[in-house]
Amino acid sequence: MSQLNIVIINGPNLNLLGKREPEIYGSTTFEDYFKQIKAAYPHIHFDYFQSNVEGELINAIQQFGFSHQGIILNAAAYTHTSVGIGDAVKAVPCRVVEVHISNTFSRESFRHQSYISPNAAGVILGFGLKGYELAVEALIDFKK
Ligand code: DQA
Repeated sequence: MSQLNIVIINGPNLNLLGKREPEIYGSTTFEDYFKQIKAAYPHIHFDYFQSNVEGELINAIQQFGFSHQGIILNAAAYTHTSVGIGDAVKAVPCRVVEVHISNTFSRESFRHQSYISPNAAGVILGFGLKGYELAVEALIDFKK
């Protein structure tokens, strides 16, 4: 079986994980979590990209979307507003798993809308950082 290449793309304010509203998002930094996930799946090649800038997220989806088999995308607040990110997800051949750390449906109604879900392979939300691992498992299963 050929190598599975997965990129995790995180959107705005997720660089503050560990410090940001820990009651919602937990107290682990993404850098620490990323080390754990790489150690748990040594046979998978992982890339990681985070930006607070909408266009940079679109560039990353375009860049990785033709070279990688899987994108794990938490577009954070842009999930609920960005037609451009939704279009980028639709434009690339790569499978995109949408992840949210919190259960967006138990929060404000503006978080119930997603421009990504219609073109995602699937959506995982509400399980904390564990959701990224669940997305990896889903991408492994797709590959089989
Ligand atoms: C989030 C949920 C979004 O509504 C919010 O804007 C975020 C994080 C999550 O992972 O739970 O920044 O995507």
